[in-house]
Amino acid sequence: MKKIYLAAFVAFAFVLGAHAAQRPGHAAIASAHKLATQAGFEVLAEGGNAFDAAIAVASTLSVVEPQSSGIGGGGFFLLHRASDGRDVMLDARETAPAAVKESQYLKSDGTPNRDTALYGPLAAGIPGEPAALAWLAAHYGKLPLAKSLAPAIRIAREGFQPGKTFLEAISSHREQIVRYPGTKALLLPGGEVPKAGWTFRNPDQAATLERIAAHGNDGFYKGKTAQLLLKAVKETGGDWTAADLANYKVVEREPLDFDYRGFKIVTASPPSSGGVALEEMFNVLSGYDLDKLDRPHQLHYIIEAMRRAFRDHNEYLGDPDFVKMPLDTLLSPQYAAGLRASILPDKATPSSMLPSAVAHDPGMHTTHFSIIDADGNMVATTQTVNTHFGSCLVPPGTGVFLNNEMDDFALVPGAPNAYGLLGNKANAPAPGKRMLSSMTPTFVFSPDRVGVIGSPGGSTIITQVFEGIMAFMHGASAAQIAATPRYHHQYLPDVVWAEPDAFDADTTKALQAMGYDIKPRGHWGFMNVATWNLKTNTLDAASDPRHASGLGEVK
Ligand code: DON
Repeated sequence: MKKIYLAAFVAFAFVLGAHAAQRPGHAAIASAHKLATQAGFEVLAEGGNAFDAAIAVASTLSVVEPQSSGIGGGGFFLLHRASDGRDVMLDARETAPAAVKESQYLKSDGTPNRDTALYGPLAAGIPGEPAALAWLAAHYGKLPLAKSLAPAIRIAREGFQPGKTFLEAISSHREQIVRYPGTKALLLPGGEVPKAGWTFRNPDQAATLERIAAHGNDGFYKGKTAQLLLKAVKETGGDWTAADLANYKVVEREPLDFDYRGFKIVTASPPSSGGVALEEMFNVLSGYDLDKLDRPHQLHYIIEAMRRAFRDHNEYLGDPDFVKMPLDTLLSPQYAAGLRASILPDKATPSSMLPSAVAHDPGMHTTHFSIIDADGNMVATTQTVNTHFGSCLVPPGTGVFLNNEMDDFALVPGAPNAYGLLGNKANAPAPGKRMLSSMTPTFVFSPDRVGVIGSPGGSTIITQVFEGIMAFMHGASAAQIAATPRYHHQYLPDVVWAEPDAFDADTTKALQAMGYDIKPRGHWGFMNVATWNLKTNTLDAASDPRHASGLGEVK
């Protein structure tokens, strides 16, 4: 046994060593919007590194995809620094304001108030994104923050023509947008849903970004921006204090890091649930020789691993600064062996036979981008305002779309959130606490290749990344990884969601015969992938073919 560990250690020392000594000489960026990818390359051309490019991509996404993510939201930035091989997760997740109370999310009859959970000031957590941008520039970048924010500021002021997703999101959120004058003025010119060809400008966000560029954290969390945020939150019935904003801090956390069959996976740690679920699923799979099985049986074990990891993930996880989590148990080989022992070789386990109750449903907002620079620095970022346009509250004068991330807490015991998620005490809201997330930015290392992977999609983020890693392990290119047909099981509801091309007819029949309820769904996710082949020293980047707006490029 010891020998195996030693061999694994030597193999990984080799991976890291070869990787550290090598530089690709080019850069790869894949994001959900071509203007964001281009902004990243613009900043690299100015002498920036991957971390400066991440600031440019993230801030440009804030301007061009405000329905998905932005400086009014938060995210996780997984960083790999080439000079010393250090991996770190920058946790820029939002926090609950001090005044948070369960009663804010209940109607007078005691039933859950989904409106306050999702729209307006009570839905918004204290944003983390601006602090992440300032932190990246101060600790990892080569350029001043002002240089890396310049493309976003320019585009916010000059404007751009939004695509179909943006316009549809306005149309589907019209009812909430009209409630808030700052949001209405931005998104409903002349009171109407804009048509294709409309130029969207957000000069107030340009000015907010300029204050961040000039003053770092203080440009957002103090001074004029803070005053405007506090005023609007108060006037619309919320309760934020100057201290809530001034006390916000990003946290550098150790990522989760585990091995699976010669691959090293570095991924998001709590308050993301994604990495824990990934590790648990791979631990379960490590007991099977999947390559020796037919497709239906491969899928059987993969889906049973998903079912068991999802049962655990909302049961035990929350903000590590607030809750004690049994990670040593959940991630131990013995625990995985116990899970395997409960899987029959030819039969689906009904979720009702496994204790606990958790369910959720994916949405389509949030965004992920992947970067590798010429020196081999890497960034995997998943960032979000939660559902489309977050809380739909743009405090006048800021251009900032405040998130509705409070809904990712278990706000009311037993009441599902936007993704159908039921939580418990570990994820109950508390002042200053971070809400649990499924966002799973991930690096995969082998002796030959490195992959940077992630996607939006609520709970399906985790299974998308799981399937993306498995495709990477089978040698798939960046484009193939992003295109991989998706399927998903999350314990409850006890169904397998499948994209139209996920299983052929025989496989579907075989899975049904084992007891799986296969529910075809449309497409989901928006994966943006970068890979580095260490043998040929070439980079590859791809944006999900399910969407036209993205761009993966190597330059
Ligand atoms: O942090 C989370 O898990 C959610 N707020 C992410 C939301 C999401 O991915 C929406 N869908 N595309």
